[in-house]
This record gives sequence, structure tokens and C-alpha cells, in this order.
Amino acid sequence: MLENKDLNTNKKELECFKAELSDADFLAFSEFIYSEFGIKMPPIKRIMLQGRLLKRIRELNMLSYKEYKEYFFSPEGQKKEIFNFLNVITTNKTDFFREPIHFDFLRDQILPQYIKNNEALKVWSAGCSSGEEPYTISIVLNEFKAENPTFRFSILGSDISNRVLSNAAKGVYAENKVGLMPMSLKKKYFLKSKDRANPSVRVKPELQSFLSLKYVNLMDGQYDVNETFDVIFCRNVLIYFDRATQEKVISKLCNYLKPGGYFFIGHSESLSGMNVPLKHIKPTIFIKE
Ligand SMILES: C[S@@+](CC[C@H](N)C(=O)[O-])C[C@H]1O[C@@H](n2cnc3c(N)ncnc32)[C@H](O)[C@@H]1O
Repeated sequence: MLENKDLNTNKKELECFKAELSDADFLAFSEFIYSEFGIKMPPIKRIMLQGRLLKRIRELNMLSYKEYKEYFFSPEGQKKEIFNFLNVITTNKTDFFREPIHFDFLRDQILPQYIKNNEALKVWSAGCSSGEEPYTISIVLNEFKAENPTFRFSILGSDISNRVLSNAAKGVYAENKVGLMPMSLKKKYFLKSKDRANPSVRVKPELQSFLSLKYVNLMDGQYDVNETFDVIFCRNVLIYFDRATQEKVISKLCNYLKPGGYFFIGHSESLSGMNVPLKHIKPTIFIKE
């Protein structure tokens, strides 16, 4: 039998469940998300946002969206809650060897140029999510290094969600995430956990040693990145931005790309009609002019 205290808690939870994000509160969050992070949040995404914020409301033992909104926009909330907020509002879907023609192009067209000039190759995975993309790049570059021992490289992975960045740093993935990868690569670059109930794999330290990770909001005026890159992957990130924001972000990223450097976008993204210093060489693959 439930005690009075439990009944009250249940009632409160039920009230919270029933509560909806009001038009005004949705507008306040969506305008903030767009202006600070560039992410479009049209009315069609309201139910999605409502569901994602509910997670935080429960964790904070709050009773309504209104209470959460007041806390979030308070000076304390803006300091303490912003990273938790980002962790729930971002969409982080990713995979190892996602859109594989990019990795074929990297291996077959880009890398051969770099054994000749003897400089370390620098790659930036912007919007790297939980690390599958930069680790895939690391696998491709390590494979190339095995054939060309003098080849050197480094990879930067960045994102705005600390949750995914911390997952990337751990490098632990459910075993089915590497299910389609050739067995030879799995054996070479991953360690299998002994936990049969939760089969997982861990990226081997040698693959991790080439990767550094950092928080970068692509909407910021300037990025806290003090190097230029030979290759930038910015895939399936721009899709959440509107056209004007995409153009601004790509122009900024181009400041961090060396002349002749390569730029990859996702297959459902396009740069057509944008005034950016990139020349199209293949669908979704560009070179800096
Ligand atoms: C769908 S994932 C794509 C991951 C990977 N690039 C891929 O293609 O598989 C998009 C990532 O972009 C990040 N993101 C969204 N807005 C961003 C911003 N303003 N600055 C930096 N990263 C952002 C999200 O946190 C998310 O992890």
C-alpha cells in the first residue's frame, strides 16, 4: 500500500507528466537554442523538445516546464544548467565508417599526397559526437601508417555536448556498433569486454593516442583552436542549422583549413549557392581554393 508521502510524490509526477511546454516557454527555449547554438527548433519539434526537457525536469525534481524555464534562464541556471541542457537537446546519432566513400577518398586520394611532403597530417572532426567518426579516421590513418611508417598525423574531435565528448574519451561502445566492421580491424583496434550481459568493446590506447577532444561551439565568433588543418569533417552537423548559419559556420571553419585542404559534409547536406572558399570536387567533398 502506498503511504501518503508516496501518493503525494506520484501525484506530483503525474502533474508533471501532464504538463505541457506552453507556447511562450517553447518560444523562449527555441529562440535561445537557435541564437546560441545555431540549431533550428521549429514548432514541429515541440513534442521532441518537451520529451527531452522532461528528462532534466525529473532529474532536478522539478514539477513543471515553467519551473525549469525560470531556473534555466536565471543567472544560476545559465552557469550550472547549460551543459546538461546541451546534453539533452542535441541529436548525436553517429556510426563507425558512416558514409564510407569519404574514408575511401581519404585513403585513396588524400593520403598518398602526404607521404611525399613529410608533414604531419592534421584532421578536425567538428561535431564528432561520441567519437565513432574520429576513431574511424584514426583507423584509416593508422592503416596507412602501417604501410608508410614515416607518416604522422593528429586528429581533433570537437562537439558542444560534454556527455558525448566524455563517451568519446572513454572509447567504450556496445559490441553491435562495430558489428559491420571487418574482423581484422576489430581485432587490431578494439578490446572485447568480458561482461557477457553487456557485450562491449573498448578502443585500444594506440588509436586514442592520436585524438584530442575539446568543447567547441561552432556558433562562437572565434574558435579556441590554434592550428590549421589539412582535412575537416563537418558531417551531419550543418543539417540542424538554417542556411545563413550554415554559410557563416562553413566560412569560419575555412579559416582553419589550409589552402588545398579538404572539407567533407554529410550526404544530406549541400553547399550549393553558398559564398564560401570551397571548390566542389565530388558530391559532399570540397577543396579549399
Ligand atoms: C548527428 S551528430 C553527427 C556526428 C558525426 N559528425 C557523424 O556524421 O556521424 C551531430 C553533432 O553535432 C553537434 N552539434 C550540434 N550543434 C553544434 C554546435 N553549434 N557546435 C558544435 N557541435 C554541434 C551535436 O552535439 C552532435 O553530436
